[in-house]
Amino acid sequence: MKKLMTFVLAALMCVGASAQKWENLGQTPQMGWNSWNKFACDINEQLIRETADKMVELGLVDCGYVYLNIDDCWHAQRDENGFIHEDPERFPSGMKALTDYLHSKGLKAGIYSDAGTQTCGCRPGSLGHEYQDALVYARWGFDYLKYDWCFTEDVNPYGAYKLMRNALRQAGRPIFFSMCEWGTYKPWEWAAEIGHSWRTTGDIGPFFATDMVHPKDDGTTWTQLSVLSIIDINEPLREYAGPGHWNDPDMLEVGNGMSVAEDRAHFSLWCMMASPLLLGNDLSNMTDETFAIITNKDVIAIDQDPLGIQGFRTAKNPGGLEYWFKPLENGDWAFCILNRSEEMAEAVVDWQEFNLTDELSGRSTAFDSQVYQLRDLWNKPAKRARKVTTAKALKVTVAPHDVALYRLTPAGKI
Ligand code: GLA
Repeated sequence: MKKLMTFVLAALMCVGASAQKWENLGQTPQMGWNSWNKFACDINEQLIRETADKMVELGLVDCGYVYLNIDDCWHAQRDENGFIHEDPERFPSGMKALTDYLHSKGLKAGIYSDAGTQTCGCRPGSLGHEYQDALVYARWGFDYLKYDWCFTEDVNPYGAYKLMRNALRQAGRPIFFSMCEWGTYKPWEWAAEIGHSWRTTGDIGPFFATDMVHPKDDGTTWTQLSVLSIIDINEPLREYAGPGHWNDPDMLEVGNGMSVAEDRAHFSLWCMMASPLLLGNDLSNMTDETFAIITNKDVIAIDQDPLGIQGFRTAKNPGGLEYWFKPLENGDWAFCILNRSEEMAEAVVDWQEFNLTDELSGRSTAFDSQVYQLRDLWNKPAKRARKVTTAKALKVTVAPHDVALYRLTPAGKI
């Protein structure tokens, strides 16, 4: 008996001592900016500082964009003791000075590495250096790590991500852990205790409806996925997402070459899917339309809703209109009409056709017993316009590759 007690006690102590992920980070999907989509490997400390200045000056920090994330290609080689260093030409002042600067601006700082021998940009990966690297990132003052999956060969994904999670925890600084293995091993099934978010798909490109296939030197190809392809992969995974563990359908391409309608639809759907909102455009050179999209606080509020429930569509309709719902706090709903087609489309929404119960959240729209007031989140109605409610069918024309997006708020029983 005494032996058994000792064993149980030892087992309990072991459980207590094993590392966990940093809790209470990412209670809503992370928001910020990342260098990759626009600048790829062409980064340096001046770009990062200027981007930080812009994030403050343009009010992006006030909108919630607080992480400034440096992606691939910041690295120099490891030294003789295996410690990683920043590229002295691109980052001559050093990473600590840079994160100090970001923190002084009210921002948080993000960095990037890879679970394999090299990063996707062929810089040193973290394999075999996990604890060392985590310690270095913590000492430098980083608050966020994106951890990629190139050059992993026979590495076990569960083991690799758990190892880095433990290393981050042991390093003693709360660091958001953004897993990036592109959905290869279905991380949604096993990573809620490991990462704060996991990529669900391959890389996005600034294309709305058609994937872009690129040739590689070795004769194979790699594909940048379109917004619609990513939506179709990410939508069915909603049951796995929630506060502290989000599906990540990749960073935003708003302002990187799609039409304004497409950018608006892309941003809206990312919000409907409670996705990380990581800007990927050049902040010192953007149009008024791009600015208006990324700073629409009503739309951002859909993404950042405290319930943290990923939205869903009522039916898949590859060539036409789709109707999306997302449960929000206080009995509200977000409602989005997506026009996937290349033609103008008129939507006639008879609310009674959308009396539905979301099994995941247990929430019902109950249009048969409740009236909602509708707020159009992209087009502010004229001040004296009559209030629109669900008492009447909604008729709206949606442009090609565009959306109509509303917030529904309960306004009494029928
Ligand atoms: C992978 C990731 C991208 C980016 C690049 C950097 O492709 O999925 O988001 O980080 O690597 O090389």
